[in-house]
Amino acid sequence: MNYKLAVSAWLGSQKLTEQEKAQRLRALRPSLDALRNSYQADSVQVSYEGSTAEAYLLGYVPPYIHQAQEVLRCALPAADLSGRDELRVGLLFPGPGPELIALVRELMGLKMTPRLRVTYFDAANLGWAVARHGLLRCADDIYPRYTSAQTADVDLRSPLSHDAIRSFREFDIVIAQNMANEIADSQPALNNLVDALTSLRTGALVVLSDQRGYAVAAKKLEEGLTRRLQPHFDVTHDAMLSSQHPQLCEQFSAPNFPLLDRNFFSNAPGMKLGARKKMNVVEWIGVKRSTRRA
Ligand SMILES: C[S@@+](CC[C@H](N)C(=O)[O-])C[C@H]1O[C@@H](n2cnc3c(N)ncnc32)[C@H](O)[C@@H]1O
Repeated sequence: MNYKLAVSAWLGSQKLTEQEKAQRLRALRPSLDALRNSYQADSVQVSYEGSTAEAYLLGYVPPYIHQAQEVLRCALPAADLSGRDELRVGLLFPGPGPELIALVRELMGLKMTPRLRVTYFDAANLGWAVARHGLLRCADDIYPRYTSAQTADVDLRSPLSHDAIRSFREFDIVIAQNMANEIADSQPALNNLVDALTSLRTGALVVLSDQRGYAVAAKKLEEGLTRRLQPHFDVTHDAMLSSQHPQLCEQFSAPNFPLLDRNFFSNAPGMKLGARKKMNVVEWIGVKRSTRRA
């Protein structure tokens, strides 16, 4: 289960007693509270590092792995990936990278195990390094092929370098999720994102998803983004523009996990693992068409 995986990524090779784990988790509660408060704002500014990154890994990554898996299950069949020995994957705004765990699980579900070359594009790669390394190790445990990972330090509000744009031309899949409320007030970020995604090669798959209704500004961003991408892609799913028909509205419930419930989620009843959680997610899935038809 995803919470167990997140705890394993969090602990890495450390061997702690149950009491020590409980103590460390209790110390992370203020960081979880601060994150929850930040995500209520229309425009989100979080400094992802240290205890904040740890709290995100334990509190948010498990449901976000679930989100990415559900969306990828719709998306992967849209691209022609069969018989590929290697897939080049761009993860935009990945934070610690729940998308990678989801991708390896879904590929294995399709009985595909291409070698994965993953690039993480994020403004806070350094702050995420430990949590991301933990998740990469978990991905290696799940997936039989070696996954190579590299990072690109980018602030999407500034134009992308030529090297970054060149790497986009080589990607087979680009995944971005749960970023809209962090770049919602930035027209430059929207423009740069559109530039990057429209420079993809023909046949490349783009998978975008977000939590519905975080912020009005986020909805505006999603609409702007999808409208501008639409002419360049064969769109297979577009729930971003429709407010009435979420394609994905999953009940997500996990069994109790007393270690986390008692020590970490105690101030956040809505996040407790016994609580039935409704993930209300919007997604946009497109396959890049040939430029001549765009
Ligand atoms: C809420 S996290 C989402 C992480 C991951 N996609 C997930 O679903 O768990 C948002 C990520 O976007 C990154 N981010 C925010 N603004 C950014 C920007 N302007 N340029 C690049 N990355 C940015 C943050 O560093 C963070 O890693």
